[in-house]
Amino acid sequence: MVIRGLWVCKIRLVKHFGLAQILCLFVFACLVAVLFIDYIELWITSLRMNGVGASYGGILPQSVPPTRPEEYLLMPSQLVCQRAKPYLITLVTSAPTNKKARQAIRNTWGGEVQVQGFRVMTLFMVGQVLDPALTKQLSDEAREHGDLVQGRFLDTYANLTLKTLSMLAWARRFCPEAHFLAKVDDDVMFNPSALLQYISRNLKAPEGEPKELYLGRVHFNVLPDHNPASKHFVSKDAFSDAVFPDYCSGTAYVLSRPAVLKLSLAAAAIRLPKPLPPEDVFVGLCAHIAGISPIHCPLFSGGPPVTYARCCYQAMVSVHHTKPENMLQYWADMHSNALCSWVEVRTSLGICKFRALLGHLLLPEL
Ligand SMILES: *[C@@H]1O[C@H](CO)[C@@H](O)[C@H](O)[C@H]1NC(C)=O
Repeated sequence: MVIRGLWVCKIRLVKHFGLAQILCLFVFACLVAVLFIDYIELWITSLRMNGVGASYGGILPQSVPPTRPEEYLLMPSQLVCQRAKPYLITLVTSAPTNKKARQAIRNTWGGEVQVQGFRVMTLFMVGQVLDPALTKQLSDEAREHGDLVQGRFLDTYANLTLKTLSMLAWARRFCPEAHFLAKVDDDVMFNPSALLQYISRNLKAPEGEPKELYLGRVHFNVLPDHNPASKHFVSKDAFSDAVFPDYCSGTAYVLSRPAVLKLSLAAAAIRLPKPLPPEDVFVGLCAHIAGISPIHCPLFSGGPPVTYARCCYQAMVSVHHTKPENMLQYWADMHSNALCSWVEVRTSLGICKFRALLGHLLLPEL
């Protein structure tokens, strides 16, 4: 019945406008959709997020134990933030061996100190290593650049959640003046300028304290992996619900100052399971307990690679899986010409996001 109705309707439309016009209209609609692909993504995501409120029964503690300087083996001067007064501090979680990646970041986006009229600062978070030669190399690097923070835990993949806890503790104690904290992996092409622009356009709090912000690429309806052999294993005792609360992908996310504090309070309220949950899932759980909902931003890339295009990269906040040599090359190219116009950004962003989406459909495991 419905199909027949549609068929009749279609025939009438075709009679009325002709097939060519309808095709034209369709192509036009597709073009508009590509130009505003990020808005469409935002809308679809908002429909799919489960948006459940906090279900934690307990009361959050009033305070967390103060962070002691002894918890860090290496760090810049304790006054580093008092002196630099960053509005945004970016803490890059880096594997100790990835010296090349750190250098590429210093030579590109990490070297910026002033963007969009705001002061910014980038430091690297590492853990301890067993190899004495690498330990020495790290302390040399810290002396040379003054931008390493080394926590007291073994730097392994399974310990990444400890790295994040160490990062939150460091920021609370030594960088309380920063309004925003970005956590970024060392293989991410980050764009502080695009981030600050996005925040001031879309998320500006009315005068006064910024509100609790937990921004990134939101993963929703993720099922816990109860297979003990898996890299992302979570025991049933540690987490028994069917799905994780929505959380921001760990490759890059942003927290406002009040969110850093509330997440820390929530983290103090839960007992750390063994093995530790994945870092981003853990932060999502803490946010859930603290009653903070993640906010999705389409300018944070997901798993599939985003092919380089100058205007697209000028607009994106984070692009994952960027090799150090590409980072240098892209950064130079991004700044080789005048800023892209609105139309150029819309077109380029539409095309590169569409290609990444195609990649995601073809290779969903990324
Ligand atoms: C995590 O770090 C702690 C403290 O350094 C260490 O004892 C433990 O072996 C590490 N865990 C893993 C799985 O690497």
